[in-house]
Amino acid sequence: MNKIKIFSPATVSNVACGFDILGFPIESLGDEMTISKSKNIGVRITKVEGYPVPIDSQKNVATVSAEKLIQDLKPNCGFDIEIKKNIIPGSGIGSSGSNAAGSVFGINKLLGDPLTTKQLIKYAMIGEGISSLSEHPDNVAPALLGGLIMVKSVEEENIISLPIPNDLFCFVINPKIEVKTSYSREILPSKIELSSMTKQVANFGALVHALHTSNYDLLRLSLVDNVIEKHRKKLIPSFDKVKNKCIELGALGCSISGSGPSIFAITKGKDDAIKIDIEVKKIYKETNIDFSTYVSKISSDGIKIIDSI
Ligand code: HSE
Repeated sequence: MNKIKIFSPATVSNVACGFDILGFPIESLGDEMTISKSKNIGVRITKVEGYPVPIDSQKNVATVSAEKLIQDLKPNCGFDIEIKKNIIPGSGIGSSGSNAAGSVFGINKLLGDPLTTKQLIKYAMIGEGISSLSEHPDNVAPALLGGLIMVKSVEEENIISLPIPNDLFCFVINPKIEVKTSYSREILPSKIELSSMTKQVANFGALVHALHTSNYDLLRLSLVDNVIEKHRKKLIPSFDKVKNKCIELGALGCSISGSGPSIFAITKGKDDAIKIDIEVKKIYKETNIDFSTYVSKISSDGIKIIDSI
């Protein structure tokens, strides 16, 4: 194989109580990347279409994660990367994660899969570090693996695919304002109250149990973020209005997607997600901020190969 074209999905990360450890892909939104073998050693961005991202290989998340992979695998060729960027940078739905994961996935395939997909996570995280100043796994892991993924740490046994009850859908609104992940992390306190920690751990444990038992009542009680949301919501216009509407319309939970400004809600069934979509659009139209919305299954698909030669 000399050339591969892939679809690398957008992702919702944190998922309320899973800060930096939990995420899932959205079905219909993602970037396309074409990666080709080259006689020239090293890795380059040769084309970017759609939303702008750096071409400089020291600054692009795709090349930074790929460089590290290449250092370890030492292939006898280089790689050219083209990106069709559909996910807006700074949107909170894994824009950088999509490319950091896509490049290492594509290169690993072109080299005949020397590493497992789980082993690629630590390389993709290095790319994340460039754009957000933090090497978090909660976007790149679900982008690579698909499904609701919990990353305890990067060793394979600590990367856990959680069950997704059949009826779970998500609604996402992406207000078209940029919130840089680095800034959204900077405003977080470095220490938290013991009581907040207790609540967050209890919610996360209950969430995992609810997923294993398809217990929607318990899901509703546990999709809660006691630590992060209160600090970041001020960066997101009409956050409280949107959240209240989602809960009023039956959402099991609603919080900030990743570092924002996107907001997600989880619903039981597609109908509630569609109702939420209609009403939240009305709220956001009043803000005069451009936005997109998505209604999707909690996708069990990660990166997909579109074509290869
Ligand atoms: N877990 C990261 C954060 C995700 O919340 O900062 C960033 O997309």
